[in-house]
Amino acid sequence: MYKNYIKFILIMDYNNQYGKEVIKMLLPSLEKARSRTKKEVLIKTNDYIIKENLKEIGLNKKYFIKTYGCQMNEHDSENIKAILEDMSFEYTDNMEDADLILLNTCAIRENAHNKVFGYLGRIKHLKETKPNIIVGLCGCMAQEEIVIKEILDKYDWLDIVFGTHNIHELPNILEKTILNKKLEVDVLSIEGDIVENIPVKRDSKYKAWVNIMYGCDKFCTYCIVPYTRGKQRSRLPQFIIEEVKELVKNGYKEVTLLGQNVNAYGKDLDINYNMSNLLQDVANTGIERIRFVTSHPWDFTNEMIDVIKNNVNIMPYIHLPLQSGSNNILKLMGRRYTKESYLKLFDKLKKEIPNVSITTDIIVGFPNETEQDFLETLDVVNTCKFDSAFTFIFSPREGTPAAKMKDDITLEEKNKRLYQLNELINKYALENNKKYLNKKVKVLLEGISEKNEDMLMGYTDTMKLVNVKSPKSNIGKIVEVKITDVKTWSMDGIIEK
Ligand code: 5AD
Ligand code: SF4
Repeated sequence: MYKNYIKFILIMDYNNQYGKEVIKMLLPSLEKARSRTKKEVLIKTNDYIIKENLKEIGLNKKYFIKTYGCQMNEHDSENIKAILEDMSFEYTDNMEDADLILLNTCAIRENAHNKVFGYLGRIKHLKETKPNIIVGLCGCMAQEEIVIKEILDKYDWLDIVFGTHNIHELPNILEKTILNKKLEVDVLSIEGDIVENIPVKRDSKYKAWVNIMYGCDKFCTYCIVPYTRGKQRSRLPQFIIEEVKELVKNGYKEVTLLGQNVNAYGKDLDINYNMSNLLQDVANTGIERIRFVTSHPWDFTNEMIDVIKNNVNIMPYIHLPLQSGSNNILKLMGRRYTKESYLKLFDKLKKEIPNVSITTDIIVGFPNETEQDFLETLDVVNTCKFDSAFTFIFSPREGTPAAKMKDDITLEEKNKRLYQLNELINKYALENNKKYLNKKVKVLLEGISEKNEDMLMGYTDTMKLVNVKSPKSNIGKIVEVKITDVKTWSMDGIIEK
């Protein structure tokens, strides 16, 4: 009763205070998002429904979507595109032409936020000249309390805000906005069930993202993902295998199995089926290339290693985030492994999987990181000589435990550490690439090279970017390429007759 009263006041308040009336206010709550319910996750095979009257609502209208962040977001955008096309909207890559603009956002670090708010400024100008365009914000930022507050405060000219848990309801959300011309905020804090029948419009005809699970229960102390994506929910294996088989039938060469922590796949199911079982079953579909991201060192089992090395179609490439090389910092990060156990796993992977390439993520400037802690990170980098790494300065995310820790390192020091780390990462990236010179590698040619229109680009088994002199007719094929030049981030190659 009391709660409802507060909610009523909130709605009244927002309606009075802000220019645009808000019709539905399902606001995100970090507190709720943190809680893990015991509620069984239902697998719904017909929850995505598109009502007859909505099938042509986008006729002669164009949509533009800008995606920020990880592969999971890229894949969500592929779902959103298909849903919009079910409503007869047509895709445009020119925002100025669009009748509907969506920003699918990322919350992982502050600069991701800033970019989105910067971009909203540009869209606001456009909306001033074209007031009828519909502008929406979705994805991880929509799941954050502070973001919604800022939107209601300063960006109330937006038309829709929806979160990561209700993408399948987009048609109904859009219908309400179009009919009512009021800001619709529709963000669920507690994650929903798994909806299996959401359509997808894939960006590539050759490689595909396949979600195997949603959410994450690891709660690393710096990370917002367990709040924005909710508790871990694995898809049932039969749906994943079916999806991969369908992709094979349609000529796809490569799948990347997606999850925040894929090694924990299946732990939330009661069918005694884990990531090694899934990898084996996906390998059995005969798809030519299988990748999987992201692995947490904690859940990487010997069975997984066996399956990877015994199946030629599982690529010898592993992304294994280290985050820090100091045990003190790893503990503060809540990572559940030590420098020693990481190195042990790393050695095992290198020894067991021939020619494996391993990349990583590292954060510098975590609260309390001393010079000594940082040197330990450099020490691990010197030992592992990673093929490549994504490196970041710690960014406090509101609501996470690390955001409450005392940030005791100057920005100058953080930048210095990042620079030093990147120098080392680049050195090893180039050193590793040099081993490829004059060697023959298999490359899935995906499209035209960004650096040279006369070349094609693609990736090796080990996820190295290669620009290849090749006729366009090879796009979509896996070809043997001889490497003729190597750089830090890419290689050049030719196809020998
Ligand atoms: N600050 C900086 N980097 C972060 N990452 C996740 N959260 C944060 C944060 N708050 C990095 C981690 C993770 C990658 C996807 O982003 O390294 O592995
Ligand atoms: Fe975030 Fe990855 Fe840790 Fe999950 S395992 S909390 S997604 S860093």
